Amino acid sequence: MKLSIIILAAGLGKRMNSDLPKVLHCLADKPLLQHVIDTAMSLQPESIQVVYGHGGEQVRNTLANLPVQWVEQKQQLGTGHAVAQAIPNIADDNIVLVLYGDVPLINSVTLQGLCSAETSLNILTAKLNNPTGYGRIIRNNNGQAERIVEEKDATTEIKLIQEINTGMLATKASNLRAWLAKLDKNNSQGEYYLTDVIAMAVTDNIPIHINTVDDVYEVMGVNDRVQLANLERYYQLQQVNNLMLAGVTVQDPNRLDIRGTIKTGHDISIDINVILAGNVALGNRVRIGPNTIIRNAKIADDVEVLSNCVIEDVIIGAGCKIGPFARLRPETELAEQVHIGNFVELKKSVVARGSKINHLSYIGDSEIGSNVNIGAGTITCNYDGANKHKTIIKNDVFVGSDTQLVAPVIVEAGATIGAGSTITKDIAEDTLTVSRVEQQSISGWERPKKK
Ligand code: UD1
Ligand code: CA
Repeated sequence: MKLSIIILAAGLGKRMNSDLPKVLHCLADKPLLQHVIDTAMSLQPESIQVVYGHGGEQVRNTLANLPVQWVEQKQQLGTGHAVAQAIPNIADDNIVLVLYGDVPLINSVTLQGLCSAETSLNILTAKLNNPTGYGRIIRNNNGQAERIVEEKDATTEIKLIQEINTGMLATKASNLRAWLAKLDKNNSQGEYYLTDVIAMAVTDNIPIHINTVDDVYEVMGVNDRVQLANLERYYQLQQVNNLMLAGVTVQDPNRLDIRGTIKTGHDISIDINVILAGNVALGNRVRIGPNTIIRNAKIADDVEVLSNCVIEDVIIGAGCKIGPFARLRPETELAEQVHIGNFVELKKSVVARGSKINHLSYIGDSEIGSNVNIGAGTITCNYDGANKHKTIIKNDVFVGSDTQLVAPVIVEAGATIGAGSTITKDIAEDTLTVSRVEQQSISGWERPKKK
C-alpha cells in the first residue's frame, strides 16, 4: 500500500529564544527538520508533506532542494488542524504517517513497524519515568487504548499514567480524513487535537495498535537548547559507538563529534577533540591526532594526520603524513607518500607522489610533480590583487627555503632554486636558479646606539 507522510513543523518554538525557526536549529550540523525528512525519505513514500507555519518561508527556502511538498498552516490551531491542512493532498487508499519536525532521532525501523496500518490506527507510545507535559494513553480493562488525554486536561489520577503519546501515528487516509472533519476544540487549550482521533477510532470499531519504543531518545522532541544539547550528545555517542564496533579505536568517545556521513576501514585510530563533518572516508590504519577538523575528505590507507590540522574538501593518497598544524583547503589533492608539515597551507593544489612541503609554506593554485622538495617558508604568490594565477612545478624540483614563486610561473623538471629567491620567470630543466643580491660584508660597521 502507498505511503504518504505528513511532518508537522508549524510550531513557533518560543522556548528556543531564537530568531531562527526551531526546526532549522541543527543537530550534528543538520537542521532538525532535515533529519526527519531524511528518515521519512528512507521509507520511500509516495509523498512527504511538510506543514509549516506563518513566517516559515525561511524553513522552505533553507530546505528548498528536498523532495517534499510544503503546506502552509496560516494559524496554529492545533495538531489536528495542522494535519487537516495536508490531508486533502493524499489519496483515500494511502497510509498516512504523521511525524514531527522537532523530533529528529526517530528511527526508520520503528516507523516501518508503525506503518502496517491497513485496517487499524497505529500509535507510537513510550513509557517515561517523568511523563509530565505529554498526552497520556488511557487503556480500558482489556488493555485496549481508548483515548488520549493531554496533560492540561488531565486529572491527578490520569497524570500518574506513565505511558505517553509520542504524537506519531499511522492509519488509512480515508479514516483520518473522516475523523479530522469531526474534530472540535472543546478542551482546555481551545485547539484541534489530533489525539482526539483515537476515541473516534474506538467509536468506528477501527482497532488501535500500540507500538512502544524501547529507546525513548527516538521520540524526544526539542523545545529548548538544553534538550537540543542532550539529543546531540546522545546522537554523537550512538554514532561513535557504531564506529568503534566497526573497528575504529576512539581515544575518548565523548570527544569525537561526527557531523555527517563517515565511511571507515579497519584499525583506524582517532585521538581526542576531533570533528569529522560532511562526507568523510577513512582508509585502513589511518591515524588522526588530537584537535583536528576534517570536512569532506577522502583519506586513503596508512595516512597519518598529526595534531591540530584543518582539512576541508581534500583527497589524500595512501601513506601521506600531514601536520601538525597543517591546513588543507578545498580542491587540494595529494598523491601517495606526500608529507605536509607544520604551518603549511595548501589551497586548490595537486601534489604528486613523494613530494615534501614540510615547513611554513603557502601553496595555492599549484601543480606540484613527484619527489619535489619545497623548502621552508616557500610561498606561491598566486594573487595579483585581481586574478589568481597558477604555479607549475615539475618532477624532482628542489625549491630552496624562503622562495617566492610569482605566478604564473613554470619550473621544469629537475631544476634547483637557491634559497631566498624571488622567481618571476619560467625556469628550464635541470638548471640552478638564484635571484638574490650577492652577499657583501662591510667591515667596521657600527650599529646605531640609543641616545
Ligand atoms: C502533542 C500531543 C501530545 C503528545 C506530544 C508529544 C496533541 C494534541 N498533543 O502535544 O499528546 O504527548 O505532542 O510531544 O497532539 N504543530 C503544528 N501546528 C499546530 C500545533 C502544533 O504544526 O497548530 C506542531 C508543532 O510544531 C510540533 C508538534 O506539532 O512539532 C507538536 O506540537 P506541540 O504544541 O508541541 O504539541 P504538544 O502540546 O506538546
Ligand atoms: Ca511538544
